[in-house]
Amino acid sequence: MSASPQKQAGRRAFRAQLLYFAHDPARASLDGTPGTIYYRDGLLVVDDGRVVAVGDYDRLAPTLADGTPVEDLRDKLIAPGFIDTHIHYPQTDIIASPAPGLLPWLETYTFPAERRFENPEHAAAVAKFFLDELLRGGTTSALVYCTVHPQSAEAFFTESHARNLRMVAGKVMMDRNCPEFLRDTAEQGGRDSESLIQRWHQRGRQMYALTPRFAPTSTEAQLGVCGELAQRYQDVFIQSHVAENTDEVEWVKALFPGHRSYLDVYDHYGLLRRRAVYGHCIWLDETDRRRMFETGAVAAHCPTSNQFLGSGLFDFAAAEATRMPVALATDVGGGSSFSMLQTMNEAHKVARLSGYHLTAERMFYLATEGAARALDLGGQIGTLAEGAEADFIVLDPKATPLLARRTAQAESLEELLFAFALLGDDRAISATYAAGKPVHRREAAQH
Ligand code: GUN
Ligand code: ZN
Repeated sequence: MSASPQKQAGRRAFRAQLLYFAHDPARASLDGTPGTIYYRDGLLVVDDGRVVAVGDYDRLAPTLADGTPVEDLRDKLIAPGFIDTHIHYPQTDIIASPAPGLLPWLETYTFPAERRFENPEHAAAVAKFFLDELLRGGTTSALVYCTVHPQSAEAFFTESHARNLRMVAGKVMMDRNCPEFLRDTAEQGGRDSESLIQRWHQRGRQMYALTPRFAPTSTEAQLGVCGELAQRYQDVFIQSHVAENTDEVEWVKALFPGHRSYLDVYDHYGLLRRRAVYGHCIWLDETDRRRMFETGAVAAHCPTSNQFLGSGLFDFAAAEATRMPVALATDVGGGSSFSMLQTMNEAHKVARLSGYHLTAERMFYLATEGAARALDLGGQIGTLAEGAEADFIVLDPKATPLLARRTAQAESLEELLFAFALLGDDRAISATYAAGKPVHRREAAQH
């Protein structure tokens, strides 16, 4: 910034506590720098959708041009917007539907709900509600499953693009073991996916994910087509499910004999690589986890879903031991909350059950910088660093009487973040900004 700063139209600053991450707080860096960056009295300066300066208020305030608006949020904490690495927008209306496990839940609730996305007006209406709900919970980016209908992806991208949100989404590919009304074919699914890539990938802030639902609902021919597209479009994402449930694992064994494991089926078709994100990863073995690490494929850990559907407990300690990339996700509607804070709450408890202590700093890292890095979007989202896209949230430590009482007694950053993770939900998100613009304000949203 210049010594005699000129006022720049559109530039805005926020004075608050600031939190983001230089690297994984659980891993020492070579030069010994801490992973967590925290300013007790910080200033975040935003212009043209990006962060232009971040640091101590006392250092940066004199560099601001006279008249630059500064919002005083000193009683609040600004953090990067959350990244939800696995969620189904067409399942918004069936969240909290009771069923005895994954496969009956799919049959009874999920497939009938997804059928309705044949209708573009229904898809557009749900996409609006869904994005409102994500922003209410402080999630500014997500990897989103649509349905088999190309119009469901069209509706989602249209709404997300209009709001200038950075989202990754894809049309589900599914050509067997599902109702006729939700079935594509290897060829048609491939053609529809490719034309959506051409229409939407890297248009504004939208990005495409090839989305074979999971191995049981794709023929070998369809997985083959998917692998070819993944090879042709290297910067496109891939998203699917793996090893969520023991019945599903047995089913895959029967459908794909001769493979070493469920994960190996995806590997065989070239679907393990950077920007490939697999939901659940509960019933992997050590060879699988190492393969995830070698290929850079990411495990999306969905604790609320795994407990709700009784799928099993993600083994955090085993994931750590192999350094398999891990990020957090809600998996709504299998997941029971849109809130990444509630997802942290459950992730912490699931990790505890496997004897692993997942700190709050680490969980905030996994929901921001860690996810961005795993998705090859480091420096772009999940951070407040200079040059990043200005997607951020304002967290209110006094959002509820209990949060206020507990955070008033927090004696460290870890205790403050832990209280947010264990006691927080959408009420703790005072505001959400995308590309520097407010896209949710709690006060305004309260009726
Ligand atoms: N496996 C295949 N499809 C789904 C789905 O929609 N939700 C979950 N949780 N698991 C799946
Ligand atoms: Zn899912």
